[in-house]
Amino acid sequence: MATKLAALIVLAAFLAGPAACDGASICFSGWLRLPTFNPLLCRRGSRMNRLPRQRGPSPSGLGLSYGYYDNRRSRSYCPRAEGIVRGAVRDAVAAYPGIGAGLIRLFFHDCFVRGCDASVLLTTTNSNNSDTEREGPPNKNSLRGFEVIDAAKAAIEAACPGTVSCADIVAFAARDASYFLSNRRINIRMPGGRYDGRESFANETDQLPGPFSNVTELQASFAAKGLTSDEMVVLSGAHTIGRARCMFFSSRLPEMDPAFAAKLRAQCNGNDDTNVNQDDVTPNVLDKRYYQNVIDRKVLFTSDAVLNSTETMMQVRENANRAGAWERKFERAMENMGKIGIKTRGDQQGAEIRKVCSRVNN
Ligand code: HEM
Ligand SMILES: *[C@@H]1O[C@H](CO)[C@@H](O)[C@H](O)[C@H]1NC(C)=O
Ligand SMILES: *[C@@H]1O[C@H](CO)[C@@H](O)[C@H](O)[C@H]1NC(C)=O
Ligand SMILES: *[C@@H]1O[C@H](CO)[C@@H](O)[C@H](O)[C@H]1NC(C)=O
Ligand SMILES: *[C@@H]1O[C@H](CO)[C@@H](O)[C@H](O)[C@H]1NC(C)=O
Repeated sequence: MATKLAALIVLAAFLAGPAACDGASICFSGWLRLPTFNPLLCRRGSRMNRLPRQRGPSPSGLGLSYGYYDNRRSRSYCPRAEGIVRGAVRDAVAAYPGIGAGLIRLFFHDCFVRGCDASVLLTTTNSNNSDTEREGPPNKNSLRGFEVIDAAKAAIEAACPGTVSCADIVAFAARDASYFLSNRRINIRMPGGRYDGRESFANETDQLPGPFSNVTELQASFAAKGLTSDEMVVLSGAHTIGRARCMFFSSRLPEMDPAFAAKLRAQCNGNDDTNVNQDDVTPNVLDKRYYQNVIDRKVLFTSDAVLNSTETMMQVRENANRAGAWERKFERAMENMGKIGIKTRGDQQGAEIRKVCSRVNN
């Protein structure tokens, strides 16, 4: 126990970096199992620590359109693009459903950091920094599905070179993964037209809410992106699929349903890096089960359990009980998330159609 706490303090100091004393370093408080929020660990002006919250404008999606690559008279004509992505995702999910979960999360982590511009995929940037978003604590050793994006991109480049952005491929892949993992019950209308960014910084992943975030922090991080508390609750339902590491929930075992906790304790067996299924009941089905799990204390993270707070528990109950209600809300919320901070054809600076999704052009 003492060694674990010491390790966390070392980790916190590491994340804070040498600049901790001047108050200019970064804040990953939602990702640390520390008892209290420490403003010294946080960078000045970080969105995560500006409470009470300020809502950003709802994302407009200006410049995006449905069937963006299907218009014969446009420069971005590539009619096979969406079909190629769907085929790649269908095959990947059939072989290994967890990859579908990875693709849905990839989209979330892309959109919340620098907007949906595929910055999450970069290993080489315009600034030549190697500490890209992929190296940030929320992403490192955790994100998966990159090879599906790369395979779709390669096939699309062969069909229509320089036409389809990696950002759109990520968005279409998340839509298609939602479709297959929901047994075709979730049909997101996903417009296209995003351009790819040219920068990516690990430290900016502190804008992602963490498993130890409380409900105020969750609402604040979504509001900063122009999303509502309702959308936060609805999108959290994605924790009905995929996996999570024990380090993010082992401290909560006593607060969980005892049988569920016992099973998790056995699976984790004291190892922080072990992965377990997030939804014990239907681990590979994107359904509304998550909300019943919240009510039954069968969810993993603090950030899941706190949805049973006065402000959000009505929505949890409604999503748990009303057939079809959550699915329709999830479709709209995913579409809206896909409009956050987008770059489009009109953006002359810092936007392009990448040739290879992990590298900026030139
Ligand atoms: C509300 C705040 C959220 C927090 C604090 C959060 C946190 C996390 C954490 C800690 C993990 C496990 C990572 C690991 O152990 O390596 C995870 C997994 C996952 N999250 Fe979230 N998440 C949030 C919202 C979302 C949203 C909005 C989506 C998508 C719409 C999403 C989709 C997923 C999926 C699908 C997985 C499983 C990934 C896999 O199996 O590869 N999460 N999340
Ligand atoms: C990044 O590296 C390239 C190629 O070595 C160079 O042309 C460019 O000026 C560098 N950019 C920055 C911001 O250092
Ligand atoms: C984030 O990292 C980049 C380069 O990796 C650095 O230039 C920038 O100053 C950092 N920002 C903060 C707020 O620490
Ligand atoms: C959530 O955490 C913040 C610090 O980030 C704290 O100020 C606030 O009181 C907490 N809210 C709740 C509901 O616990
Ligand atoms: C949810 O909140 C209510 C009211 O505060 C409480 O009675 C109930 O035990 C909570 N349930 C869970 C699963 O936390």
